[in-house]
Amino acid sequence: MFRLRSTPLLATMPVGVFDSGLGGLTVLREIHRQLPHENLVYFGDTARVPYGNKSSATIIRYSHEIVRFLLAHDVKAIVVACNTASSYALDAIRETTDVPVLGVIEPAVQSLVQKAQAASVAGLIATKGTIASGAYERVLSSHNPAQRLIGKACPLLVPLIEEGYAESHAADLILHDYLAPLAKANAEYLILGCTHYPLIAQAIQRLYPQFTLIDSAEQTALELKTLLQENNLAHTSDTARVELFVSDMTESMRALKDLFFADRVDRFEVAQITED
Ligand code: DGL
Repeated sequence: MFRLRSTPLLATMPVGVFDSGLGGLTVLREIHRQLPHENLVYFGDTARVPYGNKSSATIIRYSHEIVRFLLAHDVKAIVVACNTASSYALDAIRETTDVPVLGVIEPAVQSLVQKAQAASVAGLIATKGTIASGAYERVLSSHNPAQRLIGKACPLLVPLIEEGYAESHAADLILHDYLAPLAKANAEYLILGCTHYPLIAQAIQRLYPQFTLIDSAEQTALELKTLLQENNLAHTSDTARVELFVSDMTESMRALKDLFFADRVDRFEVAQITED
């Protein structure tokens, strides 16, 4: 099923993007904005979200299953639009396919490094899994070892967002609990280390206007653009298709699809990616 080295990649092939749920749509929207001519195939694992509290073995297994599905759709590149999967499964995915694979952690760190002063303090909010993996620290140490990073696992944010509670009294209380220690440590930057979190960014900025928020979407789309151009894989036609697949049809996914893409989605359906 995995693409062999000898199979040529073509510009007309779609770019595959995936996440544990709807969070990756924040990245997909930006890819569509910067690369409007690209055909896009998205998979959101809405039946198995969240990934952030699962073991690395499970996250890697789920990621392989999704990658197999995307490769069956003949993708020319894969964007892992999930920090948790990027933390644990990126190398494993790259070992199984010659299709270029981009994660979201390197782009988020790039964005931070471009904006932050070397001596500044940055907070990192992410899932338990991403924080425990140390992936951000590893990537950051190769770019700017002097940058101070304070990580904070925020396991309640993904369920709040998935349930449409991003703007609520409950969310404000939980955000205070998670973010007060970062404000106390004088963090100037706050990395949204989960692709769901841009959906709660307004509430964060309302409560903590002192943080400059860093999210991975813009830089990820930019890196994808460069990668496609460098490999002569950029698509130029006006007939780009956007196809969204989910493992379970949820109301929140439907609502976010309408909000982000209105009527620009050509296909939106449930796809079975496992045998059972
Ligand atoms: N959106 C995902 C991320 O960027 C994870 C959410 C989850 O499934 O826990 O980490």
